[in-house]
Amino acid sequence: MSKIKINRICCIGAGYVGGPTMAMIAEKCPHIRVDVVDINEARIAAWNSSTLPVYEPGLGEIVERNRGKNLFFSTGVEDAIRDADIIFVSVGTPTKSYGLGAGRAADLCYIESSARMIAEHAKGPKIIVEKSTIPVRTAQAIATILDANSIDGQFQVLSNPEFLAEGTAMEDLAKPDRILIGGEQTEEGLAAIEALVSVYAHWVEKTNIITTNLWSSELSKLVANAFLAQRISSINSISALCEETGADVDEVARAIGMDSRIGPKFLKASVGFGGSCFQKDVLNLVYLCEQFGLPEAAEYWDQVLQVNDWQKKRFSTKIVQSLFNTAMNKRVAVLGYAFKKDTNDTRETASGYVCRDLLIEGAQVAVYDPQVSLQGMKEHLIYLGVSEDILEKQLVSCDSALEAAKGAHAIAVLTEWDEFKTLDYAAVYDSMLKPAQFFDGRNVCPHKDLKELGFDLYAIGKSDS
Ligand code: UDX
Ligand code: ADP
Repeated sequence: MSKIKINRICCIGAGYVGGPTMAMIAEKCPHIRVDVVDINEARIAAWNSSTLPVYEPGLGEIVERNRGKNLFFSTGVEDAIRDADIIFVSVGTPTKSYGLGAGRAADLCYIESSARMIAEHAKGPKIIVEKSTIPVRTAQAIATILDANSIDGQFQVLSNPEFLAEGTAMEDLAKPDRILIGGEQTEEGLAAIEALVSVYAHWVEKTNIITTNLWSSELSKLVANAFLAQRISSINSISALCEETGADVDEVARAIGMDSRIGPKFLKASVGFGGSCFQKDVLNLVYLCEQFGLPEAAEYWDQVLQVNDWQKKRFSTKIVQSLFNTAMNKRVAVLGYAFKKDTNDTRETASGYVCRDLLIEGAQVAVYDPQVSLQGMKEHLIYLGVSEDILEKQLVSCDSALEAAKGAHAIAVLTEWDEFKTLDYAAVYDSMLKPAQFFDGRNVCPHKDLKELGFDLYAIGKSDS
């Protein structure tokens, strides 16, 4: 089998996955030219500026070091496709909002348009790598489009799912638990797999690079995210039981997590999981099970999502109940809008759902998030169905937690930003109307101090607070 040499890599899609992943490849492989291309001009302009479109600790430094050397961001999709040896496809795969499979299946329109562009512009042999989270058997769809449309391209399609988590993306990319590469088990397919392995082998131990067939790789990504989401829904279901019975969910999580068979990670009870992957991937898994005639399996995984929706609703309902059953014209301070700390991403954020419920109840919602702009919040709330009129009248974006708290009846911590752990809560309490209600959706604040200051405290999975 002859070895394929990789000199140039192109990545279609300069988003939360494509941008950081390519920055890491450029950093670790100085001899490879990496072109990140996107049809969104504003996004590319931001990648070429000092304010990157993605907030991720450590990303700025790596981009700064490599941009213009072997890392390039541009809208020149056609040239980049033509010149690349490997083309990563890293475009979004949101849940379909229309037609067949609406609300559950992944929308593959961006994948399809990328495949058509590759078919049109590629010449000679290319390795196509699907990086986006996608339902199983998408690689086959990409291959079919390529074969049907290309004049003189020869393609090998690989699946190389990304396991980075936002907020820790650079660490995850630098020291991945594993790299997974799936490909066809033919001579050409194995040569393409080997070529991609050789890129990662510049910084990842070969023993941590797993190679499989295409379908196993694609399905593994969905299943990994489904298992992680399932753990959070499991502990969140227990948080409700703890609230009723007097157990403390953090103590339960600690006790069960010390069982090495269970392990301590992903057992943090919260107002609910968010992010671009968990809901979408579990929906996809449910859809796949249904499509393959397995309704019991579909129902099992669907429960993970139902518990997540229930948890978000339980939280917003608790706030309204504590405000004597009406939030109308009352100011509620919300600390944190991003779906987790250290990111500016708002996709599926639990904070958005709680804000939506409060706005619909008539509350004045005063939000502070260190990274999410008012525009970002508005776009997300409109996506959740809140009218522009309500946003205009009731949503306030604040520059600090203290500003948000001023004159508020209640305060809710919905993202676990580090700065919320060490706020001057005495000043926060003083600035609020009394009785001052505190809702900790992440259990990150100093609960004993809050109660001593006089707050009425509600925290996920704590009964006597
Ligand atoms: C996830 C997967 O972790 C990652 O491997 C995959 O590539 C993409 O999807 P991400 O969504 O970026 O990553 O973040 P993650 O850290 O998994 O958190 C997802 C959500 O779960 C967040 O809202 C987080 O706050 C919540 N969460 C996480 C909990 O509520 N409790 C926990 O114990 C862990
Ligand atoms: P992810 O979290 O998977 O990285 P994002 O939505 O952050 O998803 O990024 C996907 C990017 O892909 C967007 O910037 C979008 O403009 C880009 N994109 C979608 N379709 C195409 C295409 N056909 N060609 C180039 N870029 C595309």
